Amino acid sequence: MSEKKKFYITTPIYYPSDKLHIGHAYCTVATDAMARYKRLQGYDVMFLTGTDEHGQKIEDKAKAAGVSPKEYVDNIVEGPQGVKDLWKLMNISNDRFIRTTDDYHVAAIQKIFKAMYDKGDIYKGKYVGKYCKPCESFWTESQLVDGKCPDCGREVQDAEEEAYFFRLSKYADRVRDLLENTDFLEPRSRVNEMVTNFIKPGLEDLCVSRTSFQWGVPVDFDPGHVVYVWIDALFNYTTALGFMNDKYDDYDKFWPADVHFIGKEIVRFHSIIWPAMLMSMGLPLPKKVFGHGWLLLDGGKMSKSKGNVVDPYLLSQRYGVDALRYFLLREFPFGTDGNFSNEALIGRINTDLANDLGNLVSRTTAMVGKYFGGNLPDGCGADEDEKDLTNLLVQAQTQGGVGLFFNFEEDDPRKFDVELITMAAQLRNTYEEKMEQYAFQDALMEVFKLIGRANKYIDENKPWALAKDEGQQGRLAHVLYNLLECVRISAVLLTPFMPETCGKIFDQIGAGQDLRTWESAGTWGALPTQAPVSKGENLFPRIDAAKELEELAALEAAAKAQAAAKAEPEYISIDDFAKVKFVTAKVLACEAVKKSKKLLRFTLDCGEGQTRQILSGIHEYYEPEDLVGKTVVACVNLAPRKMMGLESNGMLISAVKEGAEGHEELHLLMLDDKVPAGCTLG
Ligand code: MSP
Repeated sequence: MSEKKKFYITTPIYYPSDKLHIGHAYCTVATDAMARYKRLQGYDVMFLTGTDEHGQKIEDKAKAAGVSPKEYVDNIVEGPQGVKDLWKLMNISNDRFIRTTDDYHVAAIQKIFKAMYDKGDIYKGKYVGKYCKPCESFWTESQLVDGKCPDCGREVQDAEEEAYFFRLSKYADRVRDLLENTDFLEPRSRVNEMVTNFIKPGLEDLCVSRTSFQWGVPVDFDPGHVVYVWIDALFNYTTALGFMNDKYDDYDKFWPADVHFIGKEIVRFHSIIWPAMLMSMGLPLPKKVFGHGWLLLDGGKMSKSKGNVVDPYLLSQRYGVDALRYFLLREFPFGTDGNFSNEALIGRINTDLANDLGNLVSRTTAMVGKYFGGNLPDGCGADEDEKDLTNLLVQAQTQGGVGLFFNFEEDDPRKFDVELITMAAQLRNTYEEKMEQYAFQDALMEVFKLIGRANKYIDENKPWALAKDEGQQGRLAHVLYNLLECVRISAVLLTPFMPETCGKIFDQIGAGQDLRTWESAGTWGALPTQAPVSKGENLFPRIDAAKELEELAALEAAAKAQAAAKAEPEYISIDDFAKVKFVTAKVLACEAVKKSKKLLRFTLDCGEGQTRQILSGIHEYYEPEDLVGKTVVACVNLAPRKMMGLESNGMLISAVKEGAEGHEELHLLMLDDKVPAGCTLG
């Protein structure tokens, strides 16, 4: 017996710093669909997911919550509505789940770190640079964008310490070659991004250890250092198979991975750092890294700290998990960003799932019940011509179009059969082509073309009219049989996306296990004519969109309010606070800036022996002459900035009440005029 083909696919391992949201589920659902598709095709699949549990962010969060880091992550990974629970809800079929705090992984990372050190690819040096805490990323000055983290745009901190470095520079040429001359990274646009932003400016060696916090894998030959969280994280893909540990024994079987699915912001780690480290370790490289887009909300990235996350529990409770899974992969091309909205979700459910798929299944099964008591008569199935699909397709193509070679009369309804069957017969191939490119949206659209065609076939054949004609019973049964076959083939190909629903469909049309297979999806006429058909529950009830949107808006507002009430304050240190210099200032002069609707130009006495000019965008709230002589508060150590050609040296402080449309109210902070200019505040 020949050995089964293998397929190894991974999701990123998630940070359990907060509960996961639908954006995280996006990648996991896509990976799940791909894994199920490969299993359907008969592959021996390994689907890995897990959690990336070390790093300063988690240490800080645990501290703020008053628990140990392990207790903190345990709760988010294993607890109610935690990571594992969410994957169960979303019907994720992962074969393995790795936690980077698992002992076998920690020990393996220590060995891997040591191996690269022994090879001379990791060496000790001094780190001077910038660190973005939320992203756990080190940056050099030249990589910053406007002085901020190039990934998330947040402030970075100075960092200087003794640290270990990985010789990334040594692998720069090989990595560049890999990116530019192979299909390692997709979509292709991401290659340009990587080469332009990171490789061309020159790859510097990467800082791979930290001493300023403890929550990480300890460098066992140098106490006090912990391994950089990205090294710890990336090697999960191999340790989870048993690389450098005895917990598992699948490394030889499954490595290299067929594909890593990841979000676009972590492409740099997976397409530059990861291959370089594998090269250093002398290991084969994964065959592909696919960087998908983000699921956006109101045009921005979802994030717990912004309070703009969509709750997968709420949505799947209301519409079912399969509807949500379908929506995520049907609505947006996998490689690009997509904006999530309740309107789009409900629209997609109502049109594709309720109107098209749900209707086709319920009309077909209902008619088999009504006209034939749930069992079609013998002999109504595919005839020899119809079964011989390859022949049919070849002839259809070579003889100038579908149906022509049958020489049907214009009004012969069998021409509809040929059109329908030809489409169904080609579906598995086109679907496969799209799935192999991770074009989930296109693959689904192909299936729904057949579903749409089948619905049209009902209208073309008018079974209700045939039913009234004694002489048409054979034709009626054949029409219904063709519909059942379309339903069956569609359901096989939709199984990776909507496993539960497709199971229900198979039950309704009486398709046993052998008729749910990949092979049977390419075989027209496989369903026995007498399969017991029964109309089951409505698969996707239609949603009253207007009413539903209102209810959702109310639920989301309540959830946001609750989250805001519970939100932990983001603490800053006293040192950070002391960096900001506020002083009292007297307004010596104030005038509107020409051609600007908003800006006022202030000349201030800040007690500095010379005047200071600050521009402030508050003209819509104040007339300049009313402010002369007032005592205000200015931040005087903001970097100077030019606006409308004028330099502003600081910022005036106002009290702002935020409204839905920007500022609702603004009050310039004014002090008692007895307070002299130049007092520091703090
Ligand atoms: N721990 C790292 C991954 C290490 S892999 C060796 C990490 N974790 S994460 O939890 O922040 O993100 C995990 C994945 O979720 C990333 O691929 C990220 O792109 C994805 N997403 C998080 N929010 C998302 C959306 N709103 N939309 C789509 N994917 C998003 O990064």
